[in-house]
Amino acid sequence: MKKIALLGATGSIGLKVIAEINKQSHLQLVAISAHQNIKALLDLKQVHNIKYAALSSPTFKHSTNEYIAGEKWYTQLYESSSPDWVIIASSGFDALIPAYEALKRGKRLLMANKEALVSGGDLLLELAAANNEPIIPIDSEHSAIFQCLQGENPAHVRKIYLTASGGPFRGMSANEKLNISVQQAIQHPVWKMGAKISIDSATMMNKGLEAIEAHKLFGLEAHQIDFLIHPQAIMHSMVEFTDGSYKAQMSTPDMAIPIRYALSYPERFISQTNPLLLSELRFYPLNMDEYPALGLALRAMAMGGNAPCALNAANEAAVDAFIHQKIKFTHIADWVSEALNDFKYIEKPGLEDLVYTHTETIRYINNKINKHHGYSN
Ligand SMILES: NC(=O)c1ccc[n+]([C@@H]2O[C@H](COP(=O)([O-])OP(=O)(O)OC[C@H]3O[C@@H](n4cnc5c(N)ncnc54)[C@H](OP(=O)(O)O)[C@@H]3O)[C@@H](O)[C@H]2O)c1
Repeated sequence: MKKIALLGATGSIGLKVIAEINKQSHLQLVAISAHQNIKALLDLKQVHNIKYAALSSPTFKHSTNEYIAGEKWYTQLYESSSPDWVIIASSGFDALIPAYEALKRGKRLLMANKEALVSGGDLLLELAAANNEPIIPIDSEHSAIFQCLQGENPAHVRKIYLTASGGPFRGMSANEKLNISVQQAIQHPVWKMGAKISIDSATMMNKGLEAIEAHKLFGLEAHQIDFLIHPQAIMHSMVEFTDGSYKAQMSTPDMAIPIRYALSYPERFISQTNPLLLSELRFYPLNMDEYPALGLALRAMAMGGNAPCALNAANEAAVDAFIHQKIKFTHIADWVSEALNDFKYIEKPGLEDLVYTHTETIRYINNKINKHHGYSN
C-alpha cells in the first residue's frame, strides 16, 4: 500500500489524479490540498474519505477540525498524514517550497507543476538525487521523454523534440492577436486545462517553460532541445539518439495517461483505451517569429541562474493582468521581456534567493503594469 498526498486536488490535474488513484486498490489518498476553494476541498475530503485536507491561501490563518491552514500548512500536512509519495498538481511558483519540503523528508515526488521546476529545478533535482529517486514528471511531454529514456544511457541522447499543438492562434499575425479575449485564449483546441496553462499554451510560453523543465529534468543543453508543431497532440515528444534511432511516446491526448504512468512507474497499469488514428498524424516546423514568449524562455534558459525564475514570475504576473483585463494578449511577452532586461541576476540561487526573485519580479511587473494601465486598455 502506498500512501499519497495530493496538492492542488481541486484543479484539472488534481481531479484526474484522484480518479486514477481510486482505480488502484494499492494506492491510498491520505491528504489533499487546495488554495482557497474550501467547498470543493471539503467535498472531495468527504466523498473520497480522505483523512487530511489543507488550504494554502494565507486568508486561512489557522487549522480547524476540518482542515489544516497557516503559514507552514504543508509541514503539518506531511507530518499528520505521513505519505510515501507527494503529487504536486497545484499551479504556480508557490508549489516550490512544498515540493522542496517533500523531498527533504525523503518522499517520492510526482510532479505536474511546471513553474516550480522551471524556477527551482536545480534545487529539487539535487534533493531527489540525494534521495536516490527520480522526480517523476506528469507533464505529458516530459512523461514522454522520461518513458523514452527508460533503459537508456543519458549520454546517448543527441536531441529531444518537444511537440506543440500550436495553440488556438497559430498562423495569426501579431496585429490579429492584439484583440484576443481572455475567453478565446483559455479555449485550447485539444487539451482541457486550467486557465493559466491554457493562456501559456496560446502565447507558447508553455513550450518555453517545458524547454526549461526538460533542460533541468534531463540535463540537456539548449542546442539539444527542438520543437515540432503537431496539431493532433498524439505524439507527446520524441528522443533522437546518437546512433540515429528515434523513440517517441504516443497516446490519445488525455492527461490520465501520463498520470497513470507516474502512479505505476516503473510498471504499467492495464487500461482500456481507443486505438490511435495514426494516419492523421501531421508535423510542421515551429516558426519562432510567431511566438516571442518562446524566444524569451530560451533566452532565460541560456542565462541560467535565477533568470528562469524571473521569467516565470513575470509571466505569472502578466498572465494574471491579462485575465483581469489590465493588458492585452500580445503585451504578456512585452512585460516578460521588460523583466528579463531588468532583474538582479544571481548565478547560484538558493531557496531564499528564488523566493526573493519571484516576489520582487511580481512586484516590479505589477507596478509597471499599473503605471501603464491607461495605455494598455
Ligand atoms: N491541466 C493540464 O492539462 C496540465 C498539463 C501539464 C501540466 N500542468 C501543470 O499542472 C499544474 C496544475 O494545472 P491545472 O491545469 O490543473 O490548474 P488548475 O485547474 O488551475 O488547478 C490549480 C490547483 O492548484 C491550486 N492552487 C492555485 N493557486 C495556488 C497557490 N498559489 N498555491 C497552492 N495551490 C494553488 C488550486 O486550488 P483552488 O481550487 O483552491 O484555487 C487548484 O487545486 C500547473 O503547474 C500546470 O502547468 C497542467
